[in-house]
Amino acid sequence: FRTLDDADLSGKRVLVRVDLNVPTENGRVTDRTRIARILPTIREIADKGGRAVLLAHFGRPKGGPDEKNSLKPIAAALSEELGRPVAFVPATVGDIAHSAIGAMKDGDVVLLENTRFHPGEEKNAAEFVEQLAALGDIFVNDAFSAAHRAHASTEGLARRLPAHAGRTMQAELAALARALERPERPVVAVVGGAKVSTKLELLGNLVTRVDVLVIGGGMANTFLAAQGKAVGKSLCEHDLLDTARDVLARAGACRIVLPIDAVVASAFKAHAPSRAVPVDAVGPDDMILDIGPASVAAVKAVLETARTLVWNGPFGAFELQPFDAGTVAVAQEAAALTVAGKLVSVAGGGDTVAALNAAGAAEGFTYVSTAGGAFLEWMEGKVLPGVEALRR
Ligand code: 3PG
Repeated sequence: FRTLDDADLSGKRVLVRVDLNVPTENGRVTDRTRIARILPTIREIADKGGRAVLLAHFGRPKGGPDEKNSLKPIAAALSEELGRPVAFVPATVGDIAHSAIGAMKDGDVVLLENTRFHPGEEKNAAEFVEQLAALGDIFVNDAFSAAHRAHASTEGLARRLPAHAGRTMQAELAALARALERPERPVVAVVGGAKVSTKLELLGNLVTRVDVLVIGGGMANTFLAAQGKAVGKSLCEHDLLDTARDVLARAGACRIVLPIDAVVASAFKAHAPSRAVPVDAVGPDDMILDIGPASVAAVKAVLETARTLVWNGPFGAFELQPFDAGTVAVAQEAAALTVAGKLVSVAGGGDTVAALNAAGAAEGFTYVSTAGGAFLEWMEGKVLPGVEALRR
């Protein structure tokens, strides 16, 4: 696909799709990671004399304007990070947007209001695509994390205007290709998180592509139960035991690694009294909240023989100390191996970034994706419409 290297930006109105779907509390941005990721593309466009018109969604408004989903407060945070003014335009299309963009000078940056205030956005309606296209000369998509949505501002515009991948989109796709499409083997996948039900497609795809699949988190309990082990009061999807057995049966040449011991407590709360037990000694009142030390050692040993790691989801209830210990220990080992040049490590998806940041390990990873749903769909082997539209 085309990148910014192939674009003549000077004097052009450049519609840039970014992901500003950031966590907020009372209108204040609480994590600026996604904002930081889009700065290189915006700077490059502005420095080359382009007029950057930023398009983004925020939250999930029901196809009409509502104040709590306005991008206005995000424009201020973006401007601070960018170190340049970012004018907020209180409209996405139409006269207000046209006159604001008409008044821009080369190197200016504006942010249009939430694209999802228009029902045509999520429907990818031709009419809304036209209204957006009328605002720009070229389209740059720098929002990998929204690329699983076939929306007007992600997919539609890429087909309608000359389309280019932004720098973050490029970096993201390059990292993902290194991790699963053309990896150095052996490849290890670590999949954690609470539920098997949300990760079935993921597991099904991974067993056909990786050499070792490490299963952790609440979802591992379902696999342990499927092997006939007692899991006490632990999170477990008892209706999915056959499904879990099926995943294990179909693994073929992929080696599946499950926990061999667990840290159990009688309550789901921070600092609840806990102890480590082998997975076949979990009592009726026990709740599995983390992997135990023997499992940590086993996973570290797997990482030591691997060349590539792809990671989604924490091992335990990492938001409650000390039940973050398993995730922290494995994350630090992965980071250390990466820094030593022995491992390519790519991680992503919802809680994963928070867990790696809390472990102080994110910096050491080859690439940490800020994508949630898009990262999962990519790991499931699905085609992402926003990426596909750029490839033409
Ligand atoms: C995300 O936050 O993962 C992306 O911005 C996509 O948001 P969505 O799930 O509301 O489409």
